[in-house]
Amino acid sequence: MTATDPDRYAVAGNPIAHSRSPLIHTQFAQQTGQAMVYERLLCPLDDFSATLTRFAQAGAKGCNVTVPFKFEAFEMAARRTPRAELAQAANTLRFDAAADGGWLADNTDGVGLVRDITVNAGMTLAGARVLLLGAGGASAGVLGPLIEARPAEIVVANRTADKAQTLVDRHADWAREHGVHLSARSLQEPGQAYDVFINGTAASLSGGGIPVGPEVLKPGGLALDMMYGPAAQAFLDWARAHGAVARDGLGMLVEQAAESFALWRGVRPDTAPVLAAMRALVDGTAAH
Ligand code: ATR
Repeated sequence: MTATDPDRYAVAGNPIAHSRSPLIHTQFAQQTGQAMVYERLLCPLDDFSATLTRFAQAGAKGCNVTVPFKFEAFEMAARRTPRAELAQAANTLRFDAAADGGWLADNTDGVGLVRDITVNAGMTLAGARVLLLGAGGASAGVLGPLIEARPAEIVVANRTADKAQTLVDRHADWAREHGVHLSARSLQEPGQAYDVFINGTAASLSGGGIPVGPEVLKPGGLALDMMYGPAAQAFLDWARAHGAVARDGLGMLVEQAAESFALWRGVRPDTAPVLAAMRALVDGTAAH
């Protein structure tokens, strides 16, 4: 390493070849004039912590973390932001030196989702009724910031009811502090006509279809799948066919990246041109 070497970052996961994060962060770096490189770090399933430690010891400054390592990343950090604590998972690490407090874990997925809904999609969360489908890592990562946006109500519905209840219980104080009515429901009785419906399940990937009926949608309401590309297509078609405003997870992906970038570099990139470029890329890919 010399003083002129760019700072190193990566996205760590398994698999990782498909990740769009290097492209997004490279555009952010160009736009803001930051001297950094961002690569993909494939971590063996049983060797995440050692792989990451080597990356940090080689001089890297931080990383994003994706499936299936967000929980391990959270455990490895010396310090955690409140939103990472609520999620019990981290998608962002900053490799601060021990003298500065040690590695910091953050979770920017939720704020990315909220920003995509309120800024990019121009929908209002404050006072809204929200249905969050799923209680796995994706849903856990976004519930805290969703509550902070102060909707009137959030219902968490999940196939395995216990997991939804556990997630709700963990966020109960946070919801009370923000005046949000938070509850768990079954997939069989998820409620009706939500202003915002967020799919955080892997149901579309497992070919299971959308595990609730269209009565959860409201004409003109928002229906958002955290996936993007072909994995989200069935959901988008279904939501549109029932009069909802359909949105995939690409905006959330770009926004969570911007929040990580800001944590590392202290400068917030303009997400609009990057989201437009990613949209063109994903739509182009989908068409082939
Ligand atoms: P992730 O970290 O991506 O959220 P996960 O922790 O495996 O992955 O969670 C996947 C979520 O999708 C869970 O809420 C899961 O429901 P269960 O908790 O009951 O397993 C949900 N899911 C996956 N396949 C599903 C299907 N076919 N129908 C309904 N829900 C499904």
